[in-house]
Amino acid sequence: MSKFTLALVAGASAAVGAASTAALLGMGSSKKNIPSQTVTTTTTVGTSPTGTAPPLPVPIRRLDDPKAPFVPPVDPAGLFQYGFPGPVNDVRNAASLTSSYDRRTKNPHWVAEHITPASLLMRNGDRRHSAFEEDQAIPEKFRAKLKDYFRSGYDRGHQVPAADAKWSQEAMNDTFALSNMCPQVGEGFNRDYWAHFEDFCRRLTSYYPSVRIVTGPLYLPKRDPVDNKWRVSYEVIGHPPNIAVPTHFYKIIYAEDGKTGGNVSLGAFVLPNDKISNDKPLADFEVPIEAVERASGLDFVSLLPPARRKRLCQEVSCSVIVKEYDQRQKQMTTPPPAKGLPSPSQR
Ligand SMILES: *[C@@H]1O[C@H](CO)[C@@H](O)[C@H](O)[C@H]1NC(C)=O
Ligand SMILES: *[C@@H]1O[C@H](CO)[C@@H](O)[C@H](O)[C@H]1NC(C)=O
Repeated sequence: MSKFTLALVAGASAAVGAASTAALLGMGSSKKNIPSQTVTTTTTVGTSPTGTAPPLPVPIRRLDDPKAPFVPPVDPAGLFQYGFPGPVNDVRNAASLTSSYDRRTKNPHWVAEHITPASLLMRNGDRRHSAFEEDQAIPEKFRAKLKDYFRSGYDRGHQVPAADAKWSQEAMNDTFALSNMCPQVGEGFNRDYWAHFEDFCRRLTSYYPSVRIVTGPLYLPKRDPVDNKWRVSYEVIGHPPNIAVPTHFYKIIYAEDGKTGGNVSLGAFVLPNDKISNDKPLADFEVPIEAVERASGLDFVSLLPPARRKRLCQEVSCSVIVKEYDQRQKQMTTPPPAKGLPSPSQR
């Protein structure tokens, strides 16, 4: 009998009493009369010798018979008759992003996006026509709410930036669901260094025809100076407090060469959810992908053979670009040309 069948049997018989449930599962009767497994072997349904125990319709194992099939005396998976506890990952497939939501922290686990020179050239979406909204696909009990962020002191920080989804208003709207948000320090981070980092990612499309980015929160341990032990500590916002404020954020960047089965230049970065000075080199935040995988419990490149992996920061400068942000901004207003699309001057 499969675990699923067992659960069904247990569920069905809950209505007719614990004794018959136990009998159906071949476990003897319930608490009143714990069966001695060494005594009985029977396949017949009938009155027991004592006249009080319920019938045992299926054979139970004789411990003195090594050839008898083993019937476990307990059924932990019988819990599922009351519902599977989870976790449920709430995978979302929108036009501009794919994500997995963490019901415990009310933050995403990860949000994945894809940008190309052509997608960034299109200008059909404007963030002035988008509004932050709760993700109705998440059960109300687990949903991050607008009121939770209100006066929290934190920005509703896009994981997939709105600016990466200008190719359609609907696609941009997708990025405004709270399941794409984490509480982020505003000044000095979300509105500054983190925004520059997002811009760095967009500018990679000048060198690579296809760029994928996975972004998400981390809750990293810090050494306590008092007793020298490592602890994870993070703020929780909302009413009641329920949205975790991540200590860090990661981005995994996959810069593709555009060939089927081609090389992928990988970059992994972890930034603290804190003010970061603009003159800090981005390369300071580069980490091995494995470090992000360990910290997040996620796998990012399990199907990418090592022979196809390259290191992004060996191919492009991951430090200079942020320093040159102001000048680079100007260049970005004239995006790189894309095949098959009108140049910006023609639009
Ligand atoms: C985008 O969101 C805004 C605000 O919620 C809404 O008024 C508008 O209709 C949406 N546009 C599209 C194309 O879905
Ligand atoms: C991938 O990179 C290697 C060098 O690291 C190169 O020899 C190979 O030709 C590249 N593959 C493709 C498909 O460009």
